[in-house]
Amino acid sequence: MFELYLDTANAQEVARLNAAMPVFGVTTNPSILAKEGKGLSTILPEIKEVLGEQARFHVQVVSTTTEAMVAEAVQLSQLPYDIVVKIPTTVIGLAAIKQLKAKKISILETAIYSAQQGFMAALCGADYLAPYVNRIDVLGANSVNIVSDLQLLINQHNLNCKLLPASFKNTRQVMDILRLGVNSITLPSDIAEQMMIHPSVQPAVDVFSQDWQDAFEGKLAYQS
Ligand code: G3P
Repeated sequence: MFELYLDTANAQEVARLNAAMPVFGVTTNPSILAKEGKGLSTILPEIKEVLGEQARFHVQVVSTTTEAMVAEAVQLSQLPYDIVVKIPTTVIGLAAIKQLKAKKISILETAIYSAQQGFMAALCGADYLAPYVNRIDVLGANSVNIVSDLQLLINQHNLNCKLLPASFKNTRQVMDILRLGVNSITLPSDIAEQMMIHPSVQPAVDVFSQDWQDAFEGKLAYQS
């Protein structure tokens, strides 16, 4: 099943978008929470209220040593939600995944900028990999090639790991990545909204309405 996430900590945005799209859960990071000015103890219940019991939350550790990341991840995993713990894909983060997988904690490896870095995380046992599409592109690298290589490696080695690409700045980037067959994606609210709209749609609908009124004034379709 495809998992569509919103990369936000704003419950109002989640509610607005979830009304028209099948939101599987939410991804956050320390910058997103800082921008929202709210911590996990506030936003997790707010968003669960919106999405329901089945909502999945990807929440990131802020610790900076392997031991502290592991301890923080254990605490996060015990919160009363469907939690995937996000760990930055650094050398100390990779060491943390190895320990956390032994404890059967669900892990997303975040801040992936290269296929080799993501492959290491997958081998260490990450459940999800989050390549940073736009950040890769602005560095002059090719996010499509990197995500494609990662998907290939996951398939070749039958790794139990999903790609969850993040960091999008336009819908073309989203479609280029979706075309690769990834199992999940996380979108900022503005890009999620753009996925549903096109400037030609409303004019087309307006013409349908006018034509209908001209021919069948006041009637609904089943009354015609
Ligand atoms: O989840 C990671 C994502 O939030 C990074 O996105 O827009 O800061 O590059 P961005």
